[in-house]
Amino acid sequence: MFISFKFDDYVNFIKSHHLFAGEIFIKPEAEQQAVKIVKKTTPSLKARGLSPKDVMEKAKKAENDEFYTRYEDIEKELSMYDKSIWKDSVAYCNCDDAVDGDEKKTSAFVQYFLNNFKKLGLRKLICTHYSGKIDLFNQGYAAYVAYIFTKDGKIEMEKKHLKGYDGSFDHPISLKILKEEADIVCTNPPFSRSIDYWNAIIGSGKKFIIISNISNAINTAYIPYFIKKQAWAGYNRVDWYLNPKRQLTDASGHWYTNIPIKDRPKFKQLKIMPLKNIPEKYRKYDDSKTLLVDSCYVPSNYIKPFAVSARPILNGLLEKGYQIVQEKRYTPYINGRETFARVLVQKI
Ligand SMILES: C[S@@+](CC[C@H](N)C(=O)[O-])C[C@H]1O[C@@H](n2cnc3c(N)ncnc32)[C@H](O)[C@@H]1O
Repeated sequence: MFISFKFDDYVNFIKSHHLFAGEIFIKPEAEQQAVKIVKKTTPSLKARGLSPKDVMEKAKKAENDEFYTRYEDIEKELSMYDKSIWKDSVAYCNCDDAVDGDEKKTSAFVQYFLNNFKKLGLRKLICTHYSGKIDLFNQGYAAYVAYIFTKDGKIEMEKKHLKGYDGSFDHPISLKILKEEADIVCTNPPFSRSIDYWNAIIGSGKKFIIISNISNAINTAYIPYFIKKQAWAGYNRVDWYLNPKRQLTDASGHWYTNIPIKDRPKFKQLKIMPLKNIPEKYRKYDDSKTLLVDSCYVPSNYIKPFAVSARPILNGLLEKGYQIVQEKRYTPYINGRETFARVLVQKI
């Protein structure tokens, strides 16, 4: 069905629905500038005793999935891949709103693909929208599948509201689209369902470029994917998102993919050198005599397993002749006290 409703009628219809929960007002352009001021006068995360990682963890626990990706972060990451990966392919955004032509209401992923549809040579873009609790983009709560394609040189969108369909990425209809139609999945999925999401996407064997928690590389649920080389870090971290009020909010995310990364710029951040050259404050041994190295220092001449944080993994350590040797998170103890979690790696 092509979209032919009048927007006001649509809004009225949604408002009169018995499941209608509330209306979110998007601030006009001038007021949006105030976002930064609001941010500055709000106590910093540090002042509140929180790190961006804590926020991500809390979001996970509170099932607060409403962190929206900024256009510039998507553009920055996707422009680093070879354009040819998209040629004649079907991109699938399976956690996204698609509102044709209104940048303030459309998911930035969809907006990116709409803006670059022809440049990337996309055959089709498919978006599935979840009928969740919060309606950031004033799209109403009904789930749908949106197909975006070119016809007579123009970009067209066809939306389908299917009976019994809730838009979840793991609904049989979404999984069928994933299996039978999609070539590359690209989105920022709900943090609260991140493990299920990885299972679905990686299990499908499709290509993906997605955002997930920065700590995945030291999380037992994800480590096997890194070991089996079914996923690796994308190019960039993502520290800023928009909340449902479209205010900036920080959380620790990173891009992950299974598409080859060329000349990873973050290799430069790895400090690989003989153990004795690593400053003492960045190398220590825990109670079980396992070497712990910090601040992206990596010993080049150490043959036993040693423990690193997520950062070196995200900076490409596994592409530099090192491998993860334990399928679960490594928790070191020093003088009987637990220190922050890591992953055990070893030179190949
Ligand atoms: C982290 S937000 C990102 C939204 C959008 N992809 C973006 O990048 O701006 C994740 C979104 O997934 C939605 N969501 C929650 N559960 C879902 C599910 N089971 N299937 C698909 N989407 C879901 C949430 O409502 C939320 O809007």
